[in-house]
Amino acid sequence: MRLGPVDEIPFGEGRAYAVGDDMVAVFRLRDGSLRAVSAVCPHAGGPLADGQTDTKVVICPLHLHAFDLTTGCSTTGAFSLNVYAVHVDDDNHLVVSPLVPSEV
Ligand code: FES
Repeated sequence: MRLGPVDEIPFGEGRAYAVGDDMVAVFRLRDGSLRAVSAVCPHAGGPLADGQTDTKVVICPLHLHAFDLTTGCSTTGAFSLNVYAVHVDDDNHLVVSPLVPSEV
C-alpha cells in the first residue's frame, strides 16, 4: 500500500499509518533506512510510532518494552510485532507490504 511522502517523517522519528485493518509505524532511522512494524504495542496498546529508536530497536513510550525493528521480536519479553516491508517509490512516497501476505 502506498502511503505519504517519506519526507514527512523526520530522521530518527516514526509515524503511524492505517494499512488495511492494521496500524503500521514507519520509522526513518538516523542513517536514513526505513523500518515498518505494527504501531500498537502488544503489551497494553501503547503508540509505538512515538517510541525512541536506535538502529535496532524501538522502545514503547508507555512501559518501555523494546522491540527489534527487523524481526518484530520483543527483547524484553512482550509479544512480537508484525513486520512490514517498506521502501520508497520513484515519487518519493512510502510503500509498505506485509511480509506475510495473508495477514492483510
Ligand atoms: S503498552 Fe507498550 S510497553 Fe506497555
